[in-house]
Amino acid sequence: MVETRLPYGSQVLATGAHFPRKVMKNVEFESFVETSDEWIKSRTGIESRRIADPALGETTLTLSLEAARVALDRAGVRPDQLEFIVVGTVTPDTIMPSTATQLQALLGAPKAFAFDLSAACSGFLYGMSIADQYISAGRIGHALVIGAETLSTVINWRDRTTCVLFGDGAGAAVLGRTEGERRILSTRLYSDGQYGDLLSIPHGCSKVPVYSPEYRLDLAKIQMKGREIFKLAIRNMLDASASVLSDAGMTTADVDFFIFHQANIRIIDMCAKSLNVPPEKTWVNVDKYGNTSAATLPACLYEAQMAGKVKEGDTVLMATFGGGLTWGASLIRI
Ligand code: ACO
Repeated sequence: MVETRLPYGSQVLATGAHFPRKVMKNVEFESFVETSDEWIKSRTGIESRRIADPALGETTLTLSLEAARVALDRAGVRPDQLEFIVVGTVTPDTIMPSTATQLQALLGAPKAFAFDLSAACSGFLYGMSIADQYISAGRIGHALVIGAETLSTVINWRDRTTCVLFGDGAGAAVLGRTEGERRILSTRLYSDGQYGDLLSIPHGCSKVPVYSPEYRLDLAKIQMKGREIFKLAIRNMLDASASVLSDAGMTTADVDFFIFHQANIRIIDMCAKSLNVPPEKTWVNVDKYGNTSAATLPACLYEAQMAGKVKEGDTVLMATFGGGLTWGASLIRI
């Protein structure tokens, strides 16, 4: 899908992020699966992740709420100005009502229409693109886009090939209408359902409900063919990046900062190397948080902005990849 330039555009007014309090370090896995801190660090770059604790009131919804509050506060936008709320998540608090409508109620955003979006790790970029379309078409003025997950709730803690990889967290962006140059320049989104089995949660929904005799708890958890996904993730993020650069008539030399989906440091490094991007022009937080799926891009952008690495007027390229399969890239003048 290609987005064309319209008189109105949407500006990313501010971002925010929030992570659970509990830090889980790699060594903790050594007591219940056959793994090591050394293996996890060297094969993925992950050193720790955050795990939501429902006893502390930490769920996808509350993480989203905190990230949203940071972004709204920084943007100087009141919740009652929001006309659209979208939450990219595969771990909603409940299937119905959506996390987004619950968030609308908690924030006090009565003018917003709200829904959840299922595009796995690409959920934030997909949501941002929808918000951009509504804003650019002149239909709405402000939107709140969230990527949030509590993947700890769908991890099989006995499967060493997946349990060490994921973490919980939320990222948020507030978008507003602009006629200026600081806007989303181009977004491209892609899917390929033929590869759906590479990353899935097969049981627990309508195909095999919890009351079905076939239901298996281990299959209501993330199943992943990591090695196959690895190669596709790199190739597709690079292709999507090339497409948004071409749309904007730019090359990587015109881009100030790059943010790649945080699944594995080796994927990030290979993408950066292929695009000739030096380490100081990328952001990495997979070491601290693991793969937080839809939350990674907005949380990285927030952290990079707070660290002064991304400044007003900078051009930022973000690329993502996830289950579905889904992937995409976006070029933004911040
Ligand atoms: N500890 C120790 N050994 C392990 C572990 C572990 N935690 N996990 C796997 N191994 C073993 C394997 O069993 C295998 O052993 P074998 O050779 O005896 O069979 C060996 O390590 C190598 O396994 P690989 O799968 O080849 O390891 P690889 O280097 O590919 O790393 C990983 C695996 C980290 C999953 C990597 O493939 C990856 O990051 N893939 C991409 C993940 C991704 O991008 N997902 C998409 C987004 S996620 C989303 O949408 C929610």
